[in-house]
This record gives sequence, C-alpha cells and structure tokens, in this order.
Amino acid sequence: MKYQPRSFKIKNGSKIEVRQTSTDDSRQLLSVVKEYISTTSYIPLYEQEFKLTDEQEKNWIRRYLEDNNSLLLVAVYNGAIIGNIDLTENSRRMLNHTGVIGMGILKEWRNMGVGTILLEQTIYWAKKFSSLEIIWLQVFANNLPAISLYKKLGFSEDGRQMGFIKDKFGQYQDNVLMSLRIR
Ligand SMILES: CC(C)(COP(=O)(O)OP(=O)(O)OC[C@H]1O[C@@H](n2cnc3c(N)ncnc32)[C@H](O)[C@@H]1OP(=O)(O)O)[C@@H](O)C(=O)NCCC(=O)NCCS
Repeated sequence: MKYQPRSFKIKNGSKIEVRQTSTDDSRQLLSVVKEYISTTSYIPLYEQEFKLTDEQEKNWIRRYLEDNNSLLLVAVYNGAIIGNIDLTENSRRMLNHTGVIGMGILKEWRNMGVGTILLEQTIYWAKKFSSLEIIWLQVFANNLPAISLYKKLGFSEDGRQMGFIKDKFGQYQDNVLMSLRIR
C-alpha cells in the first residue's frame, strides 16, 4: 500500500479518515466529483462535460495505484467520500520530476480543514515516498479560499495568464500558476 490510512479531527469536531482510493470507490467518487463541480465556479469544467463511465473512472484510479509518483487520496466521513485530491506525475521525461495537484471538497464540508489535511498528507507523501521535485497547480485568481490554502502550505505564485478563463458567469479570470519545490 502506498499510503497508510490516517484519522484526523476537523474544525467541526468530526473525525475523518484519509485513505488511498481503490477501484471499488469509482461510483461514489464519480458522484462526489460531479457534485462538487456543480457547486463551484472555480473548476474549469461544466458538470455536463464530466462524462466518465464507471469503467473509465476505474482505469483512472488504477493509474494512481500503479504510478510511483502519483497519488489519489479521498477524505471519508462515516464511510462516505467527502472530498479528494490527486497528485499526477507528468509522464514525459523532461517533466517527470513534476506533479500536478487537483482537488475538491463537497460544498457542505468546505472551510473545515479537510482540504488542508488532504494537501498536507499529499505533500508529506510526495516528500517521503516519491521522487518528485516540484508540485504545481493552477487556480482561478478569484478562488481566495484555495489560494489561501496553497499559500499556507508553502506554494508560491509563479505567474498568471491574464483573463485566461471565461467563468460560469462569463467573467474573465486570471489563471494563476503556483508551485512548491519539495526537494
Ligand atoms: C479549495 C478547496 C479544495 C479547499 O478545501 P477546504 O476543505 O475548504 O479548505 P480548508 O478549510 O482546509 O482551508 C481553506 C482556507 O481558506 C480560508 N478562506 C475561506 N474563505 C476565504 C476567503 N474568502 N479569503 C481568504 N481565505 C479564505 C479558510 O479560512 C481556510 O484557511 P484556515 O484553515 O487557515 O482558516 C475547497 O474549498 C473546494 O473544494 N472548493 C471548490 C473546488 C475548488 O476550488 N478546487 C480547487 C481548484 S484549484
């Protein structure tokens, strides 16, 4: 097993578990991702565009179980997935010291520290068990909770593509590139 499950207490006093995702989670994870995509304006994907089948989702999960430098974690409360994070190694040789982060939490569980725990655990894992050197991500400039979380955990802004994203409201948002050098 790449990542040993761990329990954490979050800000509202609930106990959550963070664990590796297995192919048995595919259906539940699909529905959680669909739900958090539909309740945020900060992921550049419309719910209708997220069309993975259960089999495709299982294959996607398998990649994280097999790739040495990639990790897919879920946060679980009472057996139900409430959020996830993925760290994906770039497979090209010139870039395979880099891994990109994607994450999301169900709306009712946001701002309780779940994202902090998932990202901290991913950084911890990457430092200890991967050969990655740089973890990076892209974030909408108006996604203040996410930017505050990333800065808190040591990420800094590398640059931004001005007005690159046309959001759900037709507004242009800067696409911010952030990274963390872990070795
Ligand atoms: C971004 C996201 C993953 C963060 O997860 P989370 O569990 O809500 O994060 P946490 O509660 O651990 O941390 C959020 C931090 O933002 C802070 N925050 C909340 N609103 C804020 C605001 N308007 N401005 C600045 N900081 C803010 C919180 O105080 C908290 O910081 P603290 O722990 O130091 O108090 C979650 O909000 C989410 O799923 N959003 C929708 C999808 C998304 O944006 N994904 C990331 C795309 S890059």
